Amino acid sequence: MIPRRLPALLITCLLLGNTASAQTTQTLIINADQGRDTISRHIYGHFAEHLGRGIYDGIFARRASGGWIPREDVVQALRAIKIPNLRWPGGCFADYYHWKDGIGPIERRPTVVNNNWGGVTEDNGVGTHEFLELTQKLGAEPFIVGNVGSGSVQEMSEWWEYINHPGASPMADLRRRNGRAEPWNVHFWGIGNESWGCGGNMRPEYYADIYKRFVSFLPAYGPVRAFRIATGPADEAYGWTEVVMREAGRLIDGLDFHRYILTGTWSKKGRATVFTEAEWAELMQKATQFDAIITRHATIMDRFDPAKRVWLIVGEWGVWHQPEPGTNPAFLYQQNTLRDAVAASVILNILNNHADRVHMANIAQTVNVLQAMILTQGDKMLRTPTYHVFELYTVHHDALLLPIILDAGHYVNGERSMPAVSATASRDAGGRIHLTMTNLDPNQQRALKVSVRGQSVTTVSGRILTAREMNAHNTFDQPEAVRPEPFTGARLDGGILTVQLPAKSVVALELR
Ligand code: AHR
Repeated sequence: MIPRRLPALLITCLLLGNTASAQTTQTLIINADQGRDTISRHIYGHFAEHLGRGIYDGIFARRASGGWIPREDVVQALRAIKIPNLRWPGGCFADYYHWKDGIGPIERRPTVVNNNWGGVTEDNGVGTHEFLELTQKLGAEPFIVGNVGSGSVQEMSEWWEYINHPGASPMADLRRRNGRAEPWNVHFWGIGNESWGCGGNMRPEYYADIYKRFVSFLPAYGPVRAFRIATGPADEAYGWTEVVMREAGRLIDGLDFHRYILTGTWSKKGRATVFTEAEWAELMQKATQFDAIITRHATIMDRFDPAKRVWLIVGEWGVWHQPEPGTNPAFLYQQNTLRDAVAASVILNILNNHADRVHMANIAQTVNVLQAMILTQGDKMLRTPTYHVFELYTVHHDALLLPIILDAGHYVNGERSMPAVSATASRDAGGRIHLTMTNLDPNQQRALKVSVRGQSVTTVSGRILTAREMNAHNTFDQPEAVRPEPFTGARLDGGILTVQLPAKSVVALELR
Protein backbone atom coordinates (compact mmCIF):
# COMPACT_ATOMS: atom_id res chain seq x y z
CA MET A 1 0.00 0.00 0.00
CA ILE A 2 1.27 3.54 -0.77
CA PRO A 3 1.39 5.88 2.28
CA ARG A 4 -0.93 8.90 1.83
CA ARG A 5 1.70 11.55 2.56
CA LEU A 6 4.06 10.73 -0.37
CA PRO A 7 4.32 13.57 -2.93
CA ALA A 8 2.20 13.17 -6.05
CA LEU A 9 5.15 12.76 -8.50
CA LEU A 10 6.68 10.01 -6.39
CA ILE A 11 3.35 8.20 -6.19
CA THR A 12 3.10 8.39 -9.98
CA CYS A 13 6.58 6.88 -10.35
CA LEU A 14 5.78 4.08 -7.92
CA LEU A 15 2.58 3.28 -9.74
CA LEU A 16 4.40 3.22 -13.07
CA GLY A 17 7.12 0.94 -11.70
CA ASN A 18 10.29 1.44 -13.76
CA THR A 19 8.48 3.46 -16.39
CA ALA A 20 9.89 6.97 -16.75
CA SER A 21 7.22 9.65 -16.50
CA ALA A 22 7.14 12.53 -18.93
CA GLN A 23 8.37 14.82 -16.16
CA THR A 24 11.50 12.80 -15.28
CA THR A 25 14.71 13.84 -17.01
CA GLN A 26 16.93 10.86 -17.82
CA THR A 27 20.61 10.94 -18.64
CA LEU A 28 22.55 9.85 -21.68
CA ILE A 29 26.35 10.09 -21.45
CA ILE A 30 28.52 9.99 -24.58
CA ASN A 31 32.13 9.07 -23.87
CA ALA A 32 33.59 10.90 -26.83
CA ASP A 33 37.16 10.19 -25.72
CA GLN A 34 36.73 6.41 -25.54
CA GLY A 35 35.98 5.37 -29.14
CA ARG A 36 37.74 2.20 -30.28
CA ASP A 37 35.66 0.36 -32.91
CA THR A 38 34.52 1.50 -36.34
CA ILE A 39 30.88 1.00 -37.34
CA SER A 40 31.34 -0.74 -40.67
CA ARG A 41 29.20 0.69 -43.45
CA HIS A 42 28.48 -2.93 -44.36
CA ILE A 43 26.10 -3.14 -41.38
CA TYR A 44 23.78 -1.14 -43.65
CA GLY A 45 23.77 -3.82 -46.37
CA HIS A 46 20.77 -5.29 -48.17
CA PHE A 47 19.54 -8.60 -49.49
CA ALA A 48 17.73 -9.31 -52.77
CA GLU A 49 16.54 -12.81 -53.61
CA HIS A 50 14.79 -14.22 -56.63
CA LEU A 51 11.50 -14.12 -54.75
CA GLY A 52 8.15 -12.57 -55.66
CA ARG A 53 8.57 -9.09 -57.11
CA GLY A 54 11.98 -8.41 -55.56
CA ILE A 55 14.27 -8.84 -58.55
CA TYR A 56 11.83 -9.21 -61.43
CA ASP A 57 9.28 -6.37 -61.55
CA GLY A 58 11.02 -4.75 -58.57
CA ILE A 59 14.67 -3.78 -58.91
CA PHE A 60 14.56 -4.76 -62.59
CA ALA A 61 11.92 -3.83 -65.17
CA ARG A 62 11.25 -5.66 -68.42
CA ARG A 63 12.96 -3.99 -71.34
CA ALA A 64 10.80 -3.46 -74.43
CA SER A 65 13.47 -5.08 -76.60
CA GLY A 66 13.65 -8.13 -74.30
CA GLY A 67 15.53 -8.88 -71.11
CA TRP A 68 15.59 -6.94 -67.84
CA ILE A 69 17.07 -3.58 -66.88
CA PRO A 70 17.55 -1.94 -63.46
CA ARG A 71 14.91 0.71 -62.72
CA GLU A 72 16.59 4.10 -62.60
CA ASP A 73 14.32 5.43 -59.84
CA VAL A 74 15.10 2.42 -57.64
CA VAL A 75 18.83 2.72 -58.32
CA GLN A 76 18.82 6.42 -57.41
CA ALA A 77 16.84 5.80 -54.20
CA LEU A 78 19.26 3.07 -53.10
CA ARG A 79 22.27 5.21 -53.96
CA ALA A 80 20.82 7.93 -51.74
CA ILE A 81 21.05 5.61 -48.72
CA LYS A 82 24.59 4.66 -49.77
CA ILE A 83 23.80 0.98 -50.10
CA PRO A 84 27.18 -0.59 -49.27
CA ASN A 85 26.59 -4.19 -50.35
CA LEU A 86 23.90 -6.42 -51.82
CA ARG A 87 23.48 -10.13 -51.02
CA TRP A 88 22.19 -12.29 -53.94
CA PRO A 89 20.66 -14.56 -55.37
CA GLY A 90 19.22 -15.95 -52.12
CA GLY A 91 18.15 -16.97 -49.58
CA CYS A 92 16.71 -20.40 -50.14
CA PHE A 93 16.86 -19.74 -53.89
CA ALA A 94 20.67 -19.75 -53.77
CA ASP A 95 20.80 -23.50 -53.13
CA TYR A 96 18.64 -24.12 -56.19
CA TYR A 97 20.52 -21.75 -58.45
CA HIS A 98 22.77 -22.98 -61.24
CA TRP A 99 24.70 -19.97 -62.42
CA LYS A 100 25.42 -21.22 -65.93
CA ASP A 101 21.66 -21.02 -66.63
CA GLY A 102 21.90 -17.25 -66.17
CA ILE A 103 24.65 -16.28 -68.63
CA GLY A 104 24.81 -15.83 -72.41
CA PRO A 105 22.12 -14.61 -74.80
CA ILE A 106 18.83 -14.15 -72.97
CA GLU A 107 16.82 -16.06 -75.57
CA ARG A 108 19.00 -19.13 -75.08
CA ARG A 109 18.83 -19.23 -71.29
CA PRO A 110 16.76 -22.07 -69.85
CA THR A 111 13.88 -21.33 -67.53
CA VAL A 112 13.96 -22.29 -63.87
CA VAL A 113 11.14 -23.14 -61.46
CA ASN A 114 11.35 -21.31 -58.16
CA ASN A 115 10.23 -24.13 -55.89
CA ASN A 116 10.62 -22.19 -52.65
CA TRP A 117 8.62 -19.16 -53.64
CA GLY A 118 5.36 -20.06 -55.31
CA GLY A 119 6.60 -22.50 -57.94
CA VAL A 120 6.75 -19.71 -60.51
CA THR A 121 8.85 -20.12 -63.63
CA GLU A 122 11.45 -17.47 -64.35
CA ASP A 123 13.44 -16.94 -67.52
CA ASN A 124 16.87 -16.46 -65.91
CA GLY A 125 16.90 -12.99 -67.43
CA VAL A 126 18.73 -11.63 -64.39
CA GLY A 127 21.95 -13.57 -63.98
CA THR A 128 25.58 -12.89 -63.11
CA HIS A 129 26.17 -10.08 -65.63
CA GLU A 130 22.92 -8.27 -64.87
CA PHE A 131 23.45 -8.50 -61.11
CA LEU A 132 27.04 -7.30 -61.21
CA GLU A 133 26.15 -4.44 -63.57
CA LEU A 134 23.47 -3.49 -61.03
CA THR A 135 25.91 -3.42 -58.12
CA GLN A 136 28.26 -1.27 -60.17
CA LYS A 137 25.46 1.21 -60.81
CA LEU A 138 24.60 1.19 -57.13
CA GLY A 139 28.21 1.64 -56.04
CA ALA A 140 27.62 -1.38 -53.78
CA GLU A 141 29.81 -4.40 -53.17
CA PRO A 142 28.29 -7.70 -54.33
CA PHE A 143 27.87 -10.52 -51.82
CA ILE A 144 27.28 -13.71 -53.81
CA VAL A 145 25.86 -16.81 -52.15
CA GLY A 146 26.93 -20.01 -53.89
CA ASN A 147 24.94 -23.21 -54.21
CA VAL A 148 25.95 -25.89 -51.71
CA GLY A 149 22.60 -27.68 -51.27
CA SER A 150 22.07 -28.86 -54.85
CA GLY A 151 25.33 -27.74 -56.44
CA SER A 152 28.82 -29.13 -56.63
CA VAL A 153 32.26 -27.97 -55.55
CA GLN A 154 33.20 -27.74 -59.23
CA GLU A 155 30.17 -25.58 -60.07
CA MET A 156 31.01 -23.07 -57.34
CA SER A 157 34.69 -23.10 -58.19
CA GLU A 158 33.89 -22.34 -61.84
CA TRP A 159 31.57 -19.48 -60.88
CA TRP A 160 34.38 -17.99 -58.82
CA GLU A 161 36.74 -18.36 -61.78
CA TYR A 162 34.18 -16.91 -64.24
CA ILE A 163 33.74 -13.80 -62.11
CA ASN A 164 37.28 -13.22 -60.91
CA HIS A 165 39.95 -14.82 -63.08
CA PRO A 166 42.03 -12.02 -64.65
CA GLY A 167 43.91 -13.97 -67.33
CA ALA A 168 43.29 -16.78 -69.78
CA SER A 169 41.23 -19.62 -68.31
CA PRO A 170 38.26 -21.65 -69.55
CA MET A 171 35.76 -19.68 -67.44
CA ALA A 172 37.38 -16.27 -67.94
CA ASP A 173 37.35 -16.91 -71.70
CA LEU A 174 33.66 -17.80 -71.51
CA ARG A 175 33.05 -14.54 -69.61
CA ARG A 176 34.81 -12.61 -72.37
CA ARG A 177 32.74 -14.34 -75.03
CA ASN A 178 29.70 -13.14 -73.08
CA GLY A 179 30.87 -9.55 -73.35
CA ARG A 180 32.81 -8.85 -70.15
CA ALA A 181 36.57 -8.45 -70.58
CA GLU A 182 37.64 -7.51 -67.06
CA PRO A 183 37.07 -9.61 -63.96
CA TRP A 184 34.64 -8.15 -61.43
CA ASN A 185 36.81 -8.90 -58.38
CA VAL A 186 33.98 -10.00 -56.12
CA HIS A 187 35.22 -11.08 -52.74
CA PHE A 188 32.20 -11.52 -50.40
CA TRP A 189 31.37 -15.17 -51.06
CA GLY A 190 28.73 -17.17 -49.19
CA ILE A 191 29.09 -20.96 -48.95
CA GLY A 192 25.42 -21.93 -49.05
CA ASN A 193 22.43 -20.43 -47.28
CA GLU A 194 20.71 -21.73 -44.16
CA SER A 195 22.32 -25.13 -44.67
CA TRP A 196 20.58 -26.28 -41.49
CA GLY A 197 17.20 -25.70 -43.24
CA CYS A 198 16.21 -25.00 -46.85
CA GLY A 199 19.87 -25.23 -47.89
CA GLY A 200 20.12 -28.96 -47.17
CA ASN A 201 18.90 -29.74 -43.62
CA MET A 202 22.45 -30.51 -42.50
CA ARG A 203 23.93 -31.09 -39.07
CA PRO A 204 26.60 -28.52 -38.13
CA GLU A 205 29.32 -31.23 -38.11
CA TYR A 206 28.38 -32.28 -41.65
CA TYR A 207 28.15 -28.70 -42.86
CA ALA A 208 31.55 -27.83 -41.36
CA ASP A 209 33.17 -30.64 -43.38
CA ILE A 210 31.36 -29.68 -46.58
CA TYR A 211 32.26 -26.04 -46.00
CA LYS A 212 35.95 -26.92 -45.81
CA ARG A 213 35.74 -28.76 -49.13
CA PHE A 214 34.02 -25.90 -50.93
CA VAL A 215 36.39 -23.18 -49.71
CA SER A 216 39.42 -25.25 -50.68
CA PHE A 217 38.57 -24.63 -54.33
CA LEU A 218 38.28 -20.84 -54.34
CA PRO A 219 41.87 -19.90 -55.22
CA ALA A 220 43.27 -16.40 -54.77
CA TYR A 221 44.02 -14.51 -57.99
CA GLY A 222 46.75 -12.06 -57.00
CA PRO A 223 45.23 -9.69 -54.45
CA VAL A 224 41.70 -11.02 -55.06
CA ARG A 225 40.88 -13.67 -52.50
CA ALA A 226 37.57 -14.96 -51.27
CA PHE A 227 36.14 -13.52 -48.09
CA ARG A 228 34.61 -16.86 -47.10
CA ILE A 229 31.22 -16.64 -45.43
CA ALA A 230 29.86 -19.74 -43.71
CA THR A 231 26.20 -20.45 -43.02
CA GLY A 232 25.61 -19.29 -39.49
CA PRO A 233 22.89 -20.01 -36.97
CA ALA A 234 19.38 -18.64 -36.74
CA ASP A 235 18.08 -17.05 -33.57
CA GLU A 236 19.19 -18.95 -30.46
CA ALA A 237 20.80 -21.94 -32.24
CA TYR A 238 24.00 -21.55 -30.23
CA GLY A 239 25.06 -25.15 -30.90
CA TRP A 240 25.47 -24.35 -34.61
CA THR A 241 27.85 -21.49 -33.83
CA GLU A 242 29.81 -23.66 -31.41
CA VAL A 243 30.31 -26.60 -33.77
CA VAL A 244 30.95 -24.66 -36.97
CA MET A 245 33.44 -22.35 -35.25
CA ARG A 246 35.19 -25.27 -33.59
CA GLU A 247 35.40 -27.45 -36.71
CA ALA A 248 35.98 -24.86 -39.44
CA GLY A 249 36.64 -21.51 -37.74
CA ARG A 250 40.20 -21.17 -39.04
CA LEU A 251 38.87 -21.19 -42.65
CA ILE A 252 35.94 -18.84 -41.98
CA ASP A 253 36.00 -15.07 -42.51
CA GLY A 254 32.33 -14.40 -41.77
CA LEU A 255 29.55 -16.33 -40.05
CA ASP A 256 26.12 -15.58 -41.52
CA PHE A 257 23.53 -15.36 -38.68
CA HIS A 258 19.80 -14.90 -39.52
CA ARG A 259 16.95 -13.56 -37.42
CA TYR A 260 13.45 -12.45 -38.38
CA ILE A 261 10.96 -11.01 -35.92
CA LEU A 262 7.19 -11.24 -36.09
CA THR A 263 4.04 -11.07 -34.02
CA GLY A 264 2.04 -14.22 -33.34
CA THR A 265 3.48 -17.46 -34.65
CA TRP A 266 5.17 -18.54 -37.87
CA SER A 267 1.93 -20.19 -39.01
CA LYS A 268 -0.29 -17.28 -37.92
CA LYS A 269 1.65 -14.05 -38.21
CA GLY A 270 0.27 -10.64 -37.39
CA ARG A 271 -0.56 -8.06 -40.03
CA ALA A 272 1.64 -5.21 -41.17
CA THR A 273 -0.81 -2.33 -40.88
CA VAL A 274 -3.57 -3.59 -38.56
CA PHE A 275 -2.31 -4.30 -35.04
CA THR A 276 -2.83 -3.53 -31.36
CA GLU A 277 -0.49 -1.87 -28.88
CA ALA A 278 0.19 -5.34 -27.46
CA GLU A 279 1.48 -6.36 -30.89
CA TRP A 280 3.59 -3.20 -31.07
CA ALA A 281 5.13 -4.19 -27.73
CA GLU A 282 5.66 -7.79 -28.84
CA LEU A 283 7.59 -6.68 -31.91
CA MET A 284 9.68 -4.15 -29.96
CA GLN A 285 10.58 -6.74 -27.37
CA LYS A 286 11.73 -9.14 -30.09
CA ALA A 287 13.79 -6.36 -31.68
CA THR A 288 15.37 -5.60 -28.29
CA GLN A 289 16.25 -9.29 -27.82
CA PHE A 290 18.74 -9.06 -30.71
CA ASP A 291 21.17 -7.69 -28.15
CA ALA A 292 21.20 -10.70 -25.83
CA ILE A 293 21.21 -13.17 -28.72
CA ILE A 294 24.10 -11.51 -30.54
CA THR A 295 26.02 -11.18 -27.28
CA ARG A 296 25.77 -14.92 -26.71
CA HIS A 297 26.80 -15.91 -30.25
CA ALA A 298 29.68 -13.42 -30.04
CA THR A 299 30.78 -14.89 -26.71
CA ILE A 300 30.95 -18.36 -28.27
CA MET A 301 32.93 -16.96 -31.19
CA ASP A 302 35.33 -15.29 -28.75
CA ARG A 303 36.30 -18.71 -27.38
CA PHE A 304 37.47 -19.92 -30.81
CA ASP A 305 38.54 -16.54 -32.18
CA PRO A 306 39.68 -14.29 -29.33
CA ALA A 307 41.29 -11.85 -31.78
CA LYS A 308 37.84 -11.25 -33.34
CA ARG A 309 39.09 -11.92 -36.87
CA VAL A 310 35.85 -13.61 -37.96
CA TRP A 311 32.97 -11.27 -38.72
CA LEU A 312 29.56 -11.98 -37.30
CA ILE A 313 27.34 -11.14 -40.27
CA VAL A 314 23.61 -10.68 -39.79
CA GLY A 315 23.00 -11.83 -43.35
CA GLU A 316 19.20 -11.79 -43.11
CA TRP A 317 17.17 -9.76 -40.66
CA GLY A 318 13.92 -7.89 -40.54
CA VAL A 319 10.25 -7.92 -39.68
CA TRP A 320 8.11 -10.63 -41.26
CA HIS A 321 4.34 -9.99 -41.40
CA GLN A 322 1.41 -11.67 -43.10
CA PRO A 323 1.47 -10.90 -46.84
CA GLU A 324 -0.85 -8.08 -47.89
CA PRO A 325 -4.39 -9.35 -48.59
CA GLY A 326 -4.98 -9.99 -52.27
CA THR A 327 -1.32 -10.66 -53.09
CA ASN A 328 0.33 -14.01 -53.84
CA PRO A 329 1.21 -15.30 -50.33
CA ALA A 330 4.42 -16.90 -51.63
CA PHE A 331 5.67 -13.47 -52.77
CA LEU A 332 6.01 -12.10 -49.19
CA TYR A 333 4.80 -8.63 -50.16
CA GLN A 334 4.04 -6.57 -47.06
CA GLN A 335 3.38 -2.93 -46.19
CA ASN A 336 5.79 -1.13 -43.90
CA THR A 337 4.72 1.22 -41.11
CA LEU A 338 6.26 3.45 -38.48
CA ARG A 339 6.35 0.36 -36.25
CA ASP A 340 8.72 -1.40 -38.67
CA ALA A 341 10.91 1.69 -38.89
CA VAL A 342 11.17 1.97 -35.10
CA ALA A 343 11.99 -1.76 -34.85
CA ALA A 344 14.69 -1.36 -37.54
CA SER A 345 16.26 1.55 -35.68
CA VAL A 346 16.32 -0.43 -32.43
CA ILE A 347 18.08 -3.30 -34.22
CA LEU A 348 20.53 -0.99 -36.01
CA ASN A 349 21.42 0.64 -32.69
CA ILE A 350 22.16 -2.83 -31.33
CA LEU A 351 24.25 -3.86 -34.34
CA ASN A 352 26.23 -0.61 -34.18
CA ASN A 353 26.97 -1.16 -30.53
CA HIS A 354 28.34 -4.63 -31.38
CA ALA A 355 30.77 -3.13 -33.91
CA ASP A 356 33.67 -5.10 -32.44
CA ARG A 357 32.21 -8.35 -33.84
CA VAL A 358 29.35 -7.42 -36.20
CA HIS A 359 30.77 -6.00 -39.41
CA MET A 360 28.03 -6.70 -41.89
CA ALA A 361 24.24 -7.08 -41.98
CA ASN A 362 21.65 -7.40 -44.72
CA ILE A 363 18.05 -6.41 -44.18
CA ALA A 364 15.52 -8.55 -46.04
CA GLN A 365 14.71 -7.69 -48.78
CA THR A 366 15.31 -4.34 -50.56
CA VAL A 367 12.26 -4.05 -52.88
CA ASN A 368 8.70 -5.46 -52.62
CA VAL A 369 9.64 -8.36 -50.31
CA LEU A 370 9.41 -8.48 -46.47
CA GLN A 371 10.81 -5.35 -44.76
CA ALA A 372 11.55 -3.55 -47.99
CA MET A 373 13.12 -0.13 -48.47
CA ILE A 374 11.07 0.43 -51.58
CA LEU A 375 7.67 -0.69 -52.90
CA THR A 376 6.75 -0.48 -56.57
CA GLN A 377 3.49 -0.61 -58.47
CA GLY A 378 3.80 -0.29 -62.24
CA ASP A 379 5.79 2.90 -62.82
CA LYS A 380 5.19 4.14 -59.28
CA MET A 381 7.66 3.78 -56.45
CA LEU A 382 7.56 4.70 -52.77
CA ARG A 383 10.13 4.83 -49.99
CA THR A 384 9.00 3.06 -46.83
CA PRO A 385 9.45 4.39 -43.28
CA THR A 386 12.25 1.81 -42.89
CA TYR A 387 14.03 3.39 -45.86
CA HIS A 388 14.05 6.68 -43.98
CA VAL A 389 15.74 5.08 -40.97
CA PHE A 390 18.51 3.82 -43.27
CA GLU A 391 18.82 7.32 -44.70
CA LEU A 392 19.03 8.92 -41.23
CA TYR A 393 21.66 6.38 -40.18
CA THR A 394 24.01 6.91 -43.17
CA VAL A 395 25.95 9.23 -40.85
CA HIS A 396 27.19 6.18 -38.94
CA HIS A 397 28.76 4.49 -41.99
CA ASP A 398 32.44 3.88 -41.19
CA ALA A 399 32.27 6.31 -38.26
CA LEU A 400 33.95 5.71 -34.90
CA LEU A 401 31.55 4.18 -32.38
CA LEU A 402 31.45 6.23 -29.17
CA PRO A 403 30.48 4.31 -26.03
CA ILE A 404 27.35 5.57 -24.29
CA ILE A 405 25.73 5.10 -20.92
CA LEU A 406 21.96 5.26 -21.14
CA ASP A 407 19.06 4.44 -18.89
CA ALA A 408 15.84 6.13 -19.84
CA GLY A 409 13.44 3.85 -18.01
CA HIS A 410 11.25 1.10 -19.37
CA TYR A 411 8.27 0.78 -21.63
CA VAL A 412 5.80 -1.61 -20.03
CA ASN A 413 2.85 -3.24 -21.73
CA GLY A 414 1.12 -6.05 -19.86
CA GLU A 415 3.75 -8.63 -19.02
CA ARG A 416 6.29 -7.08 -21.37
CA SER A 417 8.92 -4.63 -20.19
CA MET A 418 11.89 -3.32 -22.15
CA PRO A 419 14.25 -0.32 -22.20
CA ALA A 420 12.31 2.54 -23.76
CA VAL A 421 15.22 4.29 -25.43
CA SER A 422 18.15 2.96 -27.44
CA ALA A 423 20.86 4.97 -29.14
CA THR A 424 24.06 5.04 -31.16
CA ALA A 425 26.74 7.71 -30.91
CA SER A 426 29.55 7.99 -33.43
CA ARG A 427 32.13 10.48 -34.67
CA ASP A 428 32.66 10.91 -38.39
CA ALA A 429 35.90 11.73 -40.21
CA GLY A 430 35.11 15.44 -39.95
CA GLY A 431 34.93 15.31 -36.12
CA ARG A 432 31.13 15.70 -35.93
CA ILE A 433 29.27 13.59 -33.40
CA HIS A 434 26.13 11.83 -34.61
CA LEU A 435 23.57 10.63 -32.10
CA THR A 436 20.62 8.51 -33.19
CA MET A 437 17.99 7.80 -30.54
CA THR A 438 14.88 5.68 -30.63
CA ASN A 439 11.99 5.99 -28.22
CA LEU A 440 10.02 2.78 -28.74
CA ASP A 441 7.36 3.75 -26.19
CA PRO A 442 4.27 4.54 -28.27
CA ASN A 443 2.69 6.62 -25.49
CA GLN A 444 5.24 8.67 -23.59
CA GLN A 445 7.88 11.12 -24.59
CA ARG A 446 11.24 10.97 -22.81
CA ALA A 447 13.24 13.97 -21.62
CA LEU A 448 16.98 13.33 -21.85
CA LYS A 449 19.93 15.31 -20.57
CA VAL A 450 22.84 14.45 -22.85
CA SER A 451 26.38 14.94 -21.56
CA VAL A 452 29.30 14.68 -23.93
CA ARG A 453 32.52 13.79 -22.18
CA GLY A 454 35.84 14.54 -23.84
CA GLN A 455 34.67 16.85 -26.62
CA SER A 456 33.11 20.28 -26.46
CA VAL A 457 29.88 20.82 -28.34
CA THR A 458 28.51 24.19 -29.36
CA THR A 459 25.81 23.51 -31.95
CA VAL A 460 23.09 20.92 -32.42
CA SER A 461 20.74 20.17 -35.31
CA GLY A 462 18.59 17.21 -36.11
CA ARG A 463 15.78 15.40 -37.87
CA ILE A 464 12.97 13.19 -36.61
CA LEU A 465 10.93 10.32 -38.02
CA THR A 466 7.59 9.89 -36.31
CA ALA A 467 3.85 10.05 -36.99
CA ARG A 468 0.61 10.42 -35.11
CA GLU A 469 -0.45 6.80 -35.59
CA MET A 470 1.54 3.66 -34.78
CA ASN A 471 0.59 2.19 -38.16
CA ALA A 472 1.31 5.27 -40.27
CA HIS A 473 2.70 4.28 -43.65
CA ASN A 474 3.28 5.49 -47.17
CA THR A 475 0.98 4.55 -50.03
CA PHE A 476 1.23 5.06 -53.77
CA ASP A 477 -1.32 7.89 -53.37
CA GLN A 478 0.47 9.40 -50.38
CA PRO A 479 4.12 8.37 -50.75
CA GLU A 480 5.41 11.07 -48.38
CA ALA A 481 3.03 10.55 -45.44
CA VAL A 482 5.89 9.32 -43.24
CA ARG A 483 9.22 10.98 -43.81
CA PRO A 484 11.88 12.75 -41.74
CA GLU A 485 11.16 16.31 -40.62
CA PRO A 486 13.39 18.90 -38.94
CA PHE A 487 13.66 18.25 -35.20
CA THR A 488 13.10 21.15 -32.82
CA GLY A 489 13.20 19.26 -29.52
CA ALA A 490 16.93 19.63 -28.78
CA ARG A 491 18.28 22.60 -26.82
CA LEU A 492 21.89 23.42 -26.05
CA ASP A 493 22.22 25.75 -23.09
CA GLY A 494 25.55 26.54 -21.46
CA GLY A 495 27.03 23.30 -22.77
CA ILE A 496 24.08 21.24 -21.49
CA LEU A 497 22.06 19.43 -24.16
CA THR A 498 18.47 18.52 -23.40
CA VAL A 499 16.34 16.49 -25.77
CA GLN A 500 12.59 15.94 -25.72
CA LEU A 501 12.22 12.61 -27.46
CA PRO A 502 8.62 12.17 -28.60
CA ALA A 503 6.82 8.85 -28.23
CA LYS A 504 7.45 6.32 -31.04
CA SER A 505 10.15 8.34 -32.71
CA VAL A 506 13.60 8.07 -34.22
CA VAL A 507 15.76 11.18 -33.86
CA ALA A 508 19.13 11.85 -35.47
CA LEU A 509 21.22 14.69 -34.03
CA GLU A 510 24.44 16.21 -35.28
CA LEU A 511 26.62 17.80 -32.62
CA ARG A 512 29.53 20.07 -33.44
O1 AHR B 1 14.05 -14.02 -46.83
C1 AHR B 1 13.20 -15.07 -47.04
C2 AHR B 1 13.83 -16.41 -46.66
O2 AHR B 1 14.06 -16.44 -45.28
C3 AHR B 1 15.16 -16.70 -47.26
O3 AHR B 1 15.07 -17.23 -48.54
C4 AHR B 1 15.73 -17.72 -46.32
O4 AHR B 1 17.14 -17.69 -46.29
C5 AHR B 1 15.12 -17.32 -44.99
O5 AHR B 1 14.62 -18.42 -44.31
